[in-house]
Amino acid sequence: MRLSKIFSSFLITSVALSLPTELAATTEITTRADSSLVGYLGVFFLGNAPDIYFYLSNGNNALSFKALNKGNAILNPSLGTGGVRDPSIIAGAGAEAGKKWYIIGTDLNIAKTTWDASQRKGSLKIYIWESTDMINWGTERLVQVENNNAGMVWAPDAIWDPAKGQYLVHWASRFYSASDSSHTGSSGANQIRYAYTSDFKTFSAPQTLINASPTAIIDLSILQLGANSFARFIKNESATNVYMERSDTGLFGTWTRPGGGTTFIHSGVEGPYAYADNVTPGKVVLLLDYYGSDGYRPFTSTNLNANAWRDADRSGFPKNLRHGSVIGITKDKYDALNARWGA
Ligand SMILES: *[C@@H]1O[C@H](CO)[C@@H](O)[C@H](O)[C@H]1NC(C)=O
Repeated sequence: MRLSKIFSSFLITSVALSLPTELAATTEITTRADSSLVGYLGVFFLGNAPDIYFYLSNGNNALSFKALNKGNAILNPSLGTGGVRDPSIIAGAGAEAGKKWYIIGTDLNIAKTTWDASQRKGSLKIYIWESTDMINWGTERLVQVENNNAGMVWAPDAIWDPAKGQYLVHWASRFYSASDSSHTGSSGANQIRYAYTSDFKTFSAPQTLINASPTAIIDLSILQLGANSFARFIKNESATNVYMERSDTGLFGTWTRPGGGTTFIHSGVEGPYAYADNVTPGKVVLLLDYYGSDGYRPFTSTNLNANAWRDADRSGFPKNLRHGSVIGITKDKYDALNARWGA
């Protein structure tokens, strides 16, 4: 695996050197630094507790965070399994821009079940918290998003689809045959499913977004790079690595993998999450969860036409953060979060 990765990197380099004009047409990343954003809020789970923890950046540094609330949990679900994983914070968009934030997460308390059972008869619902100020999140609701022949709904995340004017919510599921209502037989490979919502209360009927069968895939994360350009990060559950694909023709356009079909970023990782740097135009931070080790480690890139991710400075990055999310925040939110939970 290590050899094939080095080989792929070599291929990317050769392509970049031999096809400068073709790359120039698509290399430009229009992810813009945003001067209204003065910091970042990170929302994670820690693997040892079924709750959600907030982290605030130290100034406008995308790689340096401090725990809020003295490191204690901020959101504790009571519905469903009573345990949340893979929390994702979603900034409101469209009419909700600057007015609404959502945190969604997997309904799975692994202490009360097993990995096998949680994928056969796991929860088909997602946790949803919402806020108008990033401080008051109320209590969660649980909404079923998947059909009853699904084994589970894992790692829900969402992106505003500018073409549709709604939030595209996605997650990973596997499916059992209609005759196997207790889900004791074999299933199809884990795939990525989606639905649309305008309010995170009602969702359209679920459909398949990405099916890489026979490869099992989970943990999709999508980053918008420009008007029609997106990068998406996916865990290959069969190989336990994370790979990136890119589309310059929208969310339902043509996705290609920079570096070619077998290129991946790192192995032994999951829960990828990418976010734009507030300060440096075109710079992207990618978090990869070393789930067998010390959790999230940050990587950076300024060229999402290649799988050329650099190890980032980890000196200010807390250890043992697990699959979560980070968004850029304005000064009023930064100050409010710090005032409420920063002491
Ligand atoms: C996942 O990894 C396996 C094993 O390395 C590989 O055969 C397969 O092509 C990969 N699938 C994807 C979608 O990258």
